[in-house]
Amino acid sequence: MEPQLQKIIVLNFGGQHSALIARRVREAQVYCEVLPYDTPWEEIRKHGPAGVILAGGPASIFLERAPRCDSALFQGNVPVLGIGYGMHLMARQLGGKVEQGRCSECGRAAFTVLEREPLFQDECFDQKEGGYGWINQRDAVLEPPPGFKVLARTENGVIAAIGDDSRRLYGLQLHPAVQQTPGGMGILKSFLYHVCGCSPSWTPRSFVQYAVDKIKSSVGPEGRVVCALSGGVDSSVVAFLLDRAVGQRCVSIFVDHGLLRKGEAEQVVDLFGSRLKGQFIHVDARERFLKALAGITDPEQKRKIIGAEFINVFKEKALSLGDIAYLAQGTIYSDVIESGTVAGAAVIKSHHNVGGLPEELGFKLVEPLRELFKDEVRLVGRELGLPDAILKRQPFPGPGLAVRVIGEVTAEKLELLREADAIFCEEIEKAGLEQELWQYFAVHTGINVVGVKGGGRHYGPVVALRAVRSEDAMTADWAKLPFDLLERVSARITGEIPGLARVVLDITPKPPGTIEWE
Ligand code: XMP
Repeated sequence: MEPQLQKIIVLNFGGQHSALIARRVREAQVYCEVLPYDTPWEEIRKHGPAGVILAGGPASIFLERAPRCDSALFQGNVPVLGIGYGMHLMARQLGGKVEQGRCSECGRAAFTVLEREPLFQDECFDQKEGGYGWINQRDAVLEPPPGFKVLARTENGVIAAIGDDSRRLYGLQLHPAVQQTPGGMGILKSFLYHVCGCSPSWTPRSFVQYAVDKIKSSVGPEGRVVCALSGGVDSSVVAFLLDRAVGQRCVSIFVDHGLLRKGEAEQVVDLFGSRLKGQFIHVDARERFLKALAGITDPEQKRKIIGAEFINVFKEKALSLGDIAYLAQGTIYSDVIESGTVAGAAVIKSHHNVGGLPEELGFKLVEPLRELFKDEVRLVGRELGLPDAILKRQPFPGPGLAVRVIGEVTAEKLELLREADAIFCEEIEKAGLEQELWQYFAVHTGINVVGVKGGGRHYGPVVALRAVRSEDAMTADWAKLPFDLLERVSARITGEIPGLARVVLDITPKPPGTIEWE
């Protein structure tokens, strides 16, 4: 039997709205999943949802090919909350009237609560005036559908919230998931707890129990699992979860491709070699990857070669272990959303790891983190006792230092880069800035310039420093690091690394730059 949990379904009508709503629902400690807007009600029903949220979206219902959901959903005897576009869709599908461009209050709008039950129970609505909310839709409901009441109105009389208590259907013109709606979280919680009857039970501890039960039920009492361990947060958490769920029946394979930062491989071997009950295999594939990368300068080709080589090494090792049916991967929820697996979601990145190890390997996949956002993965890791060195690691690309050595990757360049990177990281950490920065690293630019060393002219490589602040890696700004810190880093890098000629600082935001150089 698969373990059960209370679940909210968020229907995605495009844009980032659904991911944002999903984040907030999880913050309210209720589990939720995002599905494409056109998922048939029969499919949604199979999830046994405690409620459904129609996330807002950038479209207008008056557009010719406006995305529509299955209207059977409104007859399903499950609470529904339509937000923005979702509200308009629901209102029109149920016989209400929606007017194009009716809402003149786009942006911050004041509203008055007419009925506090059930959505506006939060104490921030204690005052009669109601509150402020963010509206990002020009269309508005003019007449609610039969059976619905108006629950709130804006200063200009625009309907801000509607509801039909008997059918448990609600609509919001306001966006409850953004910071500009101060009572927004209260509205969402009211919907989740009072209307849907959910309890705030989605916690790291309950997730660990849920995931362990789920792994046990999917691999059965005898099944053996192989786990690809990279030393990153996600795969480390997977390894610890598997350790709890199946113990000795898990074999973890760490492929050292030689493209990690200074000391990282040793850290992985130390931690996992001693902590896991199952077998831990350290494959030293450094030579092999260097050979495969020899003469390659094109970044995308490097990525492909590294991906393919990784699969080859992993496959050889895993197949030599005998009878193993399952492969565990650290796919997380944003990979699932960004890969476009959730229809209606724009494909944002192509270098996610969903399906990274192809099915030709003949394994059945176990992906215990598929439902978690990155920060939730960290909380679960903490619950499992993983050290900060792993949990607080900055994001690191799968192809590792190969995309931070511009041009051909050689052992010599990697060595130099590792040293420069370690000095930069050490100084950032000494200054206590590591938590403020999204990523900070050094890049081997692959060019040689002139300098003066030991009293004579000398040609050597240039290393660039890159430090960025970002929320989600989609956009980033270069970090204005203190000059004295930069001075120390520069003096140490040029002084401690023989052969290196120059250090430069990358001051390009994203866009137009990217975070990595390749
Ligand atoms: P860019 O350079 O596109 O990077 O601004 C955005 C984020 O993605 C990481 N990145 C990668 N991660 N494989 C990965 O697993 C890759 O090939 C790759 N390239 C970039 C980058 O470090 C940043 O966090």
